[in-house]
Amino acid sequence: MKNVIAIDGPAGAGKSTTAKLAAQKIGYTYIDTGAMYRAVAWKTLQAKKPVTDELILATVKDMTINLRYDNGVTRVFVDVDKEITNEIRTPAINEIVSQVARLKDVRDKLVTLQREMAKRGKVLMDGRDIGTNVLPDADLKIFLTAGIDERAKRRYNELTAKGHNVDLAEIKASITNRDKIDSERAVAPLKQADDAILLDTTAMSIDEVVDKIVELAEGE
Ligand code: CDP
Repeated sequence: MKNVIAIDGPAGAGKSTTAKLAAQKIGYTYIDTGAMYRAVAWKTLQAKKPVTDELILATVKDMTINLRYDNGVTRVFVDVDKEITNEIRTPAINEIVSQVARLKDVRDKLVTLQREMAKRGKVLMDGRDIGTNVLPDADLKIFLTAGIDERAKRRYNELTAKGHNVDLAEIKASITNRDKIDSERAVAPLKQADDAILLDTTAMSIDEVVDKIVELAEGE
């Protein structure tokens, strides 16, 4: 059994959904690092000011972020126990989160927390730079991806199911833009680690992806 598992990949590849289910099946703690960048984005928007790098840096400096994983759900808390689990998955956050995540001071703070959380072992962590930067010694690295049209469709379904009024073409453009910022940033860009296993999920169901992750986790 692999003790520390890293899953990376572009936006909308289905990482959160499948990684969470796979972690549950093997009894591991699931750590959603994207939720932490989303929490910083959420708090930045609370200022109701134009989103500048200065504002983001001032925000992250003074905030605490906690992830609590219970019953298969990652709950996100900021500052003195303010829960924002649902608030972080909106189109407004999607729009600015990659701008937030490019900044070195933001990443330094969150990566320190992520490494601390992984120390306990039996963890499955997902994000953009887990295999390449946060946990380079992970026992298993998976790069999860899917074609852009499929990823846009998945994100469209996720948002409409929650009652957001969204447009498929706009979502596709927004995901493409986020992937570009994530892949081209100077600090720990989105990239498949040399020793990661590539899993293209375009034509796979959620169950098939979960089973594949579990199979890889159980491997020697
Ligand atoms: O769910 P989705 O794939 O759309 O995104 P997410 O995993 O919630 O991550 C949101 C954003 O946070 C990404 O687009 C990245 O800009 C940033 N992120 C990152 O830079 N590094 C990570 N380890 C995780 C997320």
